[in-house]
Order: sequence, then C-alpha cells, then structure tokens
Amino acid sequence: MKLTIIGTGYVGLVTGTCFAEVGHHVICVDNDAAKVKLLQSGGIPIYEPGLEELVKKNVAAGRLSFTNSTAEGVKKSDVIFIAVPTPPQPDGSVDLSFIERVARDIAGAMTEYKIVVDKSTVPVKTGEKVSETIKRYCKAQVDFDVVSNPEFLREGFAVGDLMKPDRVVIGVRSQRPVAAMKEVYTPFNAPIIITDINSAELIKHAANSFLALKISYINAISILCEAAGANVEQVAHGIGLDERIGRRFLNAGIGFGGSCFPKDLSAFIKISEQVGYEFKLLKEVQRINSEQMERFVKKITDTLWVLKDKKIGVLGLAFKQNTDDVRMSPAIDLCQRLQKEGASLRVHDPKAMDKAKSVLSNVTYVDDMNDVAEDCDAIVIATEWDEFKKLDLDRAKKLLSHPIMFDGRNLFDRAEMEKRGWVYKSVGR
Ligand code: UGA
Repeated sequence: MKLTIIGTGYVGLVTGTCFAEVGHHVICVDNDAAKVKLLQSGGIPIYEPGLEELVKKNVAAGRLSFTNSTAEGVKKSDVIFIAVPTPPQPDGSVDLSFIERVARDIAGAMTEYKIVVDKSTVPVKTGEKVSETIKRYCKAQVDFDVVSNPEFLREGFAVGDLMKPDRVVIGVRSQRPVAAMKEVYTPFNAPIIITDINSAELIKHAANSFLALKISYINAISILCEAAGANVEQVAHGIGLDERIGRRFLNAGIGFGGSCFPKDLSAFIKISEQVGYEFKLLKEVQRINSEQMERFVKKITDTLWVLKDKKIGVLGLAFKQNTDDVRMSPAIDLCQRLQKEGASLRVHDPKAMDKAKSVLSNVTYVDDMNDVAEDCDAIVIATEWDEFKKLDLDRAKKLLSHPIMFDGRNLFDRAEMEKRGWVYKSVGR
C-alpha cells in the first residue's frame, strides 16, 4: 500500500520503517528540515535498537523516503497517519495544536478520498475534532475518513513491538476504511480489533494508566516488604505467575518516567474531570510514584547523612534501559535531588549522556561505567540497564571510599552483595 506518516519522532519513524519492512511504500514527512536531511543521508536522530539497519535496508529497497512536504505525502498516499507530538500543558491537559495544524495541512492538500489515521496519543473525542477541521479546511468537496489507531510500542523495544504487536486497535466511524486498514496490518499477523473512534482513543489512555497503576502497586508493596522484612521480587514472582496478573511491569524501583506514563496519567485524570468523573485511583498512582522517589533519596541521606561535599557515582540517566531518551527521566530527577542536597556527581549512561547534557549540568560525565566510582562515597543505580549487572564490583569497591551501593532498580542480589562486603540498599527487599 502507499502510506504516509506525518511526524518522524519515536512513533512515526519506527512505524513508517516497519510498514516499509513488510512491503508497503512509505513516505515519512517532518517539518524539521535538518531532521529530514539527516534521515535522507542515512542518519538516525534517535537511538532505537535495530532501527538504523531497518531504515537503511528499506531506503535502499526504494520503499521508504523522507520529505518536508505534507502535500507530497498526502497526494502520493491512500492512507495518511498522524504521528506528531501531543505534549502536556501546565494544567495536565494535552496540547493538540500540532494535531490541529497537521489536520489543516492534510485538508489543504486533499483532492480525492483519503483515510486519515491518528496514531498520536490523544484525548477521547479528538477524532471528531480532526474530522471537523478537515471538513472545514478542505478546499474541494472530497470524501475522507478519520480513523483512530493508537500505538502501543515501548521505546527501546519499538521495532520488536511494532513487528509483533499484541493487538492492533482500529477505531472507525464507518465501515469504508476498514478493509484498507486491515490490509495495512495483515502482514503483522496480530489480532485486529475494530471499535468506534472514542473507544479506540480511550483504550490508549486506559492501557498506559493501567500499566502505571501496576508499577505503583508493586512500589506500594515494596514499602510493605521493607517494613515487614519480605522481598518484593519474591512477591512479584508469586503474584505474577497468576495469568490474570502477569509478572511484567511488576518491577519495583524509583518509579516510572518517560514521555508517556506521567503525561498520559495527567491527561487521563484531566479528561475524566472534563466528563464529570474524578479519577482518584489514578491520582493515588501519581502520588505513590513521587513518594517512591522521595523514599529512595531518604534512604541515601539516612545512610550518608549530610550530602554536602559528598561525591556520588550515578549509573543511568535514561528513563529506562535501551534508550537515549531522558525526558521525564526518574534518573535525572534523582541526580537533581542529590545535587540540591549538595552532593557532587559522577554520572554514566551507555546511550543517554549526550541528551542528558542539555538537562543536567555541573556533573562529571564518565565514559566507562567502571570508572564512575572513582573517589566517590557511594554508587547509585538509577536506570535498569542490563549491562550495569556486569559492573566490575571489585574495582568499584577499591575506587570507593566505602563500599556503599543504592540500587534503585534491584539489579543485584542482596545476599550476594552483602557477602562481598557491600553496604547494599535496594527497593523492597
Ligand atoms: C509506554 C508503554 O509501555 C507503551 O505500551 C506505550 O506505547 C508508550 O508508553 C507510549 O504511550 O508511547 P515507554 O514509555 O516507552 O512505553 O516505556 P515503558 O517500558 O512502559 O517504561 C515506562 C517507565 O516505567 C520507565 O521509567 C520504566 O523504568 C518504568 N518501569 C517499567 C518500572 O518502574 N517498573 C516496571 O516494572 C516497568
């Protein structure tokens, strides 16, 4: 099929590339001229495992191209996906101005029937607004359909999630676009769910909020475990084997972050408020999440006492492993809290150091994780990168003034660490 994706952020670029990989012809549009130039020359603006090779392969095969021109994308394709940012506003609601702008641009370029698909995360009823906008700004009398098709990929695992989705949700107002949408997704061999547009939009916020709730639930259990002398990982394993619960997203730690969960929770609370329901459960999810960070900082100050003039080595800056994304990163938040207490920091992240530099200053960026502990009073693990498990613990012990580790992601075995002579504090065990 001929497809256009507007917006080459995480969602747009990975979606476009995976559509090309299964044989569709894809045009990716972005209004950032520098980004388009970079992509045209074979460069990738984000770190996402497996993406670069896939982009190169599909560009070479002639199935994937990049342009600045929305009009070109609209003219040359049957289905146009909107994948532009929907950033939060100060009151927690969503800024839909990019979506509105794109809807107008699409309308201005439409001369025949098109399917306009919203992939960005948007509040329920946005589809209706997009539809009204296109109708208003379309010069000719042209038929079109608006479809909601939320994306469920995780950063760091985006290619895998897209190539093998758990489900594909397609929200429609009429049957007309269904066959084409099914054709887009048939190569992915996933269950396809057809719903109305409002339900599809709600599924996205409901799914992300539920996952955030799951994390806050296990973080609350971690507090109980610490108080009662139990181990949160054993509890997570014990409850997670119940298929109705599932073990995934039951990792206790310093809380969730990133560009989706915090934003989507606030938006969902706001949306609920607007339709007359106070979603107190989700407010509690937010509260537990921020309390989890405060409790972790307290653990550090309880042990090291005064942080002024202390040096701390921090492993991890990205909001989670396998990404260079530091937006709303709990690791960055933690670093800033430690700085506020007067600590000086040596920090390392396998992929996120460049991006961290714009939000975290007055720290020493260290290239090798095994050097981070040099002259430090303690090490802190802030992101769940697998490679941190390979930290040279004997060397770290020699470099530190005292062998103290605060493991905010439960990467190490507590008994083993204590046997090796570490003062080891983790979460919920
Ligand atoms: C999340 C959802 O998982 C995706 O399904 C969704 O498509 C995406 O948001 C989106 O709306 O675009 P993502 O933000 O990439 O994906 O990251 P997650 O893997 O969900 O992790 C989010 C945060 O939760 C991270 O800070 C991570 O460290 C934390 N987390 C995750 C935990 O603290 N414990 C866990 O057990 C799992």
